[in-house]
Amino acid sequence: MSVSTHVIDEPGPITARLIDISKRFGDVIANDRVCLDVRRGEIVGLLGENGAGKSTLVKVLYGLTLPDEGRIEIDRAPSTIRKPSDAIAAGIGMVTQHFSLVSTMTVVENIILGTSRIIIDRDSARKKIVLLCESLGFGVDPDELVSALSVGQRQRVEILKALYRDCRVLVLDEPTAVLAPQEAETLFKAVRLLANSGIAVILITHKLHEVRKMCQRVTILRRGSCVGTYEVAQHSDDELVELMVGRAVEHANHETVKPGNLVRMSVRNLVVESRGGRILDNVSLEIREREIIGVAGVSGNGQSALVSVLCGLTRPTKGKIEVNGHDLTHGKPMDYLNAGVGRIAEDRHASVIAEMSVAHNIVLERIDGFRKAGAIDEKAISTLVQKLIQQFAIRAAPNDPVSSLSGGNMQKVLLAKVLSREPKVLVIAQPTRGLDVLATREIRNMLAFQRVNGAGILLVSEDLDELLELSDRILVMYEGRIVAEFTNSQFDRNEIGLAMTGSGSR
Ligand SMILES: Nc1ncnc2c1ncn2[C@@H]1O[C@H](COP(=O)(O)OP(=O)(O)OP(=O)(O)O)[C@@H](O)[C@H]1O
Ligand SMILES: [Mg+2]
Repeated sequence: MSVSTHVIDEPGPITARLIDISKRFGDVIANDRVCLDVRRGEIVGLLGENGAGKSTLVKVLYGLTLPDEGRIEIDRAPSTIRKPSDAIAAGIGMVTQHFSLVSTMTVVENIILGTSRIIIDRDSARKKIVLLCESLGFGVDPDELVSALSVGQRQRVEILKALYRDCRVLVLDEPTAVLAPQEAETLFKAVRLLANSGIAVILITHKLHEVRKMCQRVTILRRGSCVGTYEVAQHSDDELVELMVGRAVEHANHETVKPGNLVRMSVRNLVVESRGGRILDNVSLEIREREIIGVAGVSGNGQSALVSVLCGLTRPTKGKIEVNGHDLTHGKPMDYLNAGVGRIAEDRHASVIAEMSVAHNIVLERIDGFRKAGAIDEKAISTLVQKLIQQFAIRAAPNDPVSSLSGGNMQKVLLAKVLSREPKVLVIAQPTRGLDVLATREIRNMLAFQRVNGAGILLVSEDLDELLELSDRILVMYEGRIVAEFTNSQFDRNEIGLAMTGSGSR
């Protein structure tokens, strides 16, 4: 299933234009005289590192943020947008990363909620929604409760909501960050259809292959400023990255080493039950030295339970876990740490103490090692942390509170904390979620380096590209079970994607 690469030859007239938008948050200049335009039937990409100001810019267009300066034109006429209802009236729709649906209401109810007509003819509303669904190939039941929908389906409801209000400009802020590959295909097919019908689309993403597939033009922001607007076809990925980052970035070139024979972690017939149901159902796997086992799956199929049980945070109901030959089935988190298991959890905000410094977060779990005559040896901590900051290219000072760091730098602090203990086994979930191209490359390089150094790694990720790039083997989880296994000589994106949806098991 591939999306048509039809491109409108003659871009239409400009539908929406943001002109010289500036927005400051305290000392941070989120947007500094930024310009962006999007034309009828066009999908324009909006690229930039974390914190470059992409979301701020589109929030200005949607009336969620008031700019300090700048103006907006819709169809070449000045437009005053001070709140979302102004934006909707001007024909602008937006799907943010955090959906705003009411889960106790049905799809139809959500879509017509807040539309201004006082008496809504429900039947004709429903009809319009069904037609929209059909024309876009959205398999969404209009009478289903939103609480029963998957993330991908909820996103489709958000899009339907914007279309129901007759938007002519549709903003998508990192729409695929939460989607499985097949769902992303469905989304992009629909977005392409919308553009062909004349809608102007602004697509924010960190994934260059998406920009290449969907966009003809891309506007790039760097640290709040507009670098420029470019024809995608005329620039390589490296050039686009360089434009975003401001300098050339080295390529990922992971050393190829073969996994060894030593089994770092062995998991046999693992079962985790909760409230009578099986969250993990008879899971067995082995991680050897110098091996990265990727775990693919649509979120909610047992991956989180697997990570937490393999770090001692959840007790298995049945089965056996061994680390370097030691039985840790009933071990506590500390036992896992002491056995050399490092863990990077999915929720990086829950893994740090935000108001504490970078330095203290890094040494938190081993502060006893830094006591000298009863007092904490801040100098020793500082020396170690300085070294790690350099080694991991963390853009922060040891005494900065972690709360002031960007997502990518926060993730690097966590990696520094865990990797500096030289773990033999790493259990990692979603290490690069939401991170920009550079931070993603750096973090993947670090994992590849750990592998060469002899660690065995379990990498849980919803990003199939990440798994394909790093893994020696990929296991696919579905409904708590491992339903398929692929070794890197037989990696097939399509087959793995199919297994993730529960079909095509091998
Ligand atoms: N409400 C706010 N209060 C304070 N600072 C903010 C606020 N919103 C954004 N910022 C800051 O403005 C800058 C731009 O943020 P923005 O969210 O627009 O970046 P982005 O390009 O969307 O990044 P990402 O790729 O991480 O989503 C950042 O430094 C951010 O911390
Ligand atoms: Mg953003």
